[in-house]
Amino acid sequence: MVWQNTLYNAVMSLPIRIAPSLLACDFTRLGAEMARAEAAGAEWHHVDVMDGHFVPNLSIGLPVVESIKKVTKLPLDVHLMIEQPGEWAQRYADAGADILTFHYEACAANFEATLAQYKATGCRVGVSINGGTEPEPLRPYLDQIDMVLVMSIYAGFGGQKFMPECLGRIEKLRSWGFKGDIQVDGGITDETIGPCTKAGANVFVAGTYLFKADSMASAMGRLRAAAAAAQQPDNNATA
Ligand code: DX5
Ligand code: ZN
Repeated sequence: MVWQNTLYNAVMSLPIRIAPSLLACDFTRLGAEMARAEAAGAEWHHVDVMDGHFVPNLSIGLPVVESIKKVTKLPLDVHLMIEQPGEWAQRYADAGADILTFHYEACAANFEATLAQYKATGCRVGVSINGGTEPEPLRPYLDQIDMVLVMSIYAGFGGQKFMPECLGRIEKLRSWGFKGDIQVDGGITDETIGPCTKAGANVFVAGTYLFKADSMASAMGRLRAAAAAAQQPDNNATA
């Protein structure tokens, strides 16, 4: 792989983080579902915020983020799929986000100013590229970005099929020397997490695969085993 000479060893020894997506949980039991994810070993809670404009779907917003902040010690990984993301940065930070991710496509014309608004919140800052977007526009800003979220679907709905196009985008980011977190979101299973790990990703969002499993702990174990296997040099040699 093109990036292997640069960051290969460092990236392949990054701890793997799994962030269950609450979008797939039973919302009548939100607190209990979060506790279930924590008992299964989640590192972060992934919180999908949608506005019905940037994506066609609506999900959850500020009041829910404020409420769930009170019942967990895990970081809230807030994925904003909204228009005009700069206007909402501080409000989501105040609501309790620890990691705040906005979409490049939602603010391409004023990306630099929007990034500055997110940096000013003090949260860890993520920038996401949707299923049809290449990462080149982010390249000049990578030293200011804590995490790149490479979508492996078109954002908006859970339960979609993984798009392998994301793999080349992850490799590109590492080939440019990006040392931060690379998160993948959409269609993550024990079959798709391995190729993403080999490509250089280290943080994984999984909704359907975890919340709809018979045993979330077992499903989590399968994800970790597949990612750990993909981090082994022998498994990468033939990639
Ligand atoms: C969709 C969301 C995802 C979604 C993933 O736009 O960003 O976080 O919940 O769901 P699965 O894991 O079911 O593809
Ligand atoms: Zn998401």
